[in-house]
Amino acid sequence: MIIRSSMKDYEIKMCEEFSFVSKLSEIKNKLIVVDLNVYNLYPQIFDKFDLEEIMVMEAVEDNKNIEMALKICERMTALPSKRNSYIISFGGGIVQDVTGFAANILYRGVNWIFIPTTLLAQTDSCIGSKTSLNYLQYKNLLGTFYPPDIIYIDDDFLETLSETDYLSGLGEVVKFNVMSGRKNFDMIVNDINRLVSRDYVLLKKYVETSLNYKKKFIETDEFDKGERNLLNFAHTFGHAIESVSNYSVPHGQAVSLGMMIANIVSNNRGILSDEIKEKVGNLCCKVTNVEIAPKYLALEPFIMAMKNDKKRSGEKLAGVLMDSDFMLHKVQDIEISELESALNETYKYFVQKGICERIVSL
Ligand SMILES: NC(=O)c1ccc[n+]([C@@H]2O[C@H](COP(=O)([O-])OP(=O)(O)OC[C@H]3O[C@@H](n4cnc5c(N)ncnc54)[C@H](O)[C@@H]3O)[C@@H](O)[C@H]2O)c1
Repeated sequence: MIIRSSMKDYEIKMCEEFSFVSKLSEIKNKLIVVDLNVYNLYPQIFDKFDLEEIMVMEAVEDNKNIEMALKICERMTALPSKRNSYIISFGGGIVQDVTGFAANILYRGVNWIFIPTTLLAQTDSCIGSKTSLNYLQYKNLLGTFYPPDIIYIDDDFLETLSETDYLSGLGEVVKFNVMSGRKNFDMIVNDINRLVSRDYVLLKKYVETSLNYKKKFIETDEFDKGERNLLNFAHTFGHAIESVSNYSVPHGQAVSLGMMIANIVSNNRGILSDEIKEKVGNLCCKVTNVEIAPKYLALEPFIMAMKNDKKRSGEKLAGVLMDSDFMLHKVQDIEISELESALNETYKYFVQKGICERIVSL
């Protein structure tokens, strides 16, 4: 698959059994930046490279910062070649964000090859060119647009993903398939149990449809000035959950809860049918780690997180809602009271399903 970009077109290559590694080992003047867990789990890959070409980083939000990006730049300056050198990174969204940023600022852009190793990165973040760093107390405050040159997707990496990280990626897969219309929606409703139980052959098809769906938005609005904003469906509310949980709820799971909240707001406004709302609720429950996620639906902190947003965006809240024809609408008039009802209903949904015992004051 080729992604068109005003900066440089780039290619996604779907691979198996780490077939891409031999090509990478032929590249001269490279720094391999790799997630610590991935490094430890896949010695058969990293044994193929010289030790001094490798930089290992722990994939935690505290490392997604300017210091780490500068460390990468420092290591790169030791290579004999300058603008023609390569950063090759292996990891999920954290490693992607920090290596993409470094690749962009060093010599105003060096070659960058990305190998996404989480489902979230394979299905969503690897395309779209966004790089982000956390700064001060703010997540993703610093950022640029800079795509990799090549992305190698190999689903063999997914076998070692924790349940939480697998479900997080599946949250994004569900979101794309809900957004993309009736046909894909009905399909994922049928397939969700097989996806949850890690049918990787089936999953591969969904990763491709998700990337294809996102591709249309990023190619028409690469710099997120208009149409691409619609991809924020479920994200405004998801970000509040991430922030309330101090990022212990992973991104894709927060997005899936955000989708439930958005759909309840739409249903209460009369634009989304009960049938779709219910089915989306069921899908989201399947990809939610019930131990951690629903407890962050407690009203007060969530509304406080949203109110912080509100200070920045005016009197009412902005968000993306979906209607019964699966059309997305950017709105800027969401009342706090609508969110209160939606949060209550989302929480009750988990309680009714018997999968959430803990009732926070509703
Ligand atoms: N740039 C973008 O467009 C974009 C989009 C969405 C999210 N993000 C960012 O992505 C980050 C989240 O990324 P993520 O969910 O992909 O994961 P991550 O990078 O946070 O990693 C999650 C965990 O999975 C582990 N891991 C990675 N690959 C593994 C494997 N194959 N086997 C076992 N464990 C593995 C990591 O070590 C880590 O413990 C957030 O910082 C978010 O802001 C960026």
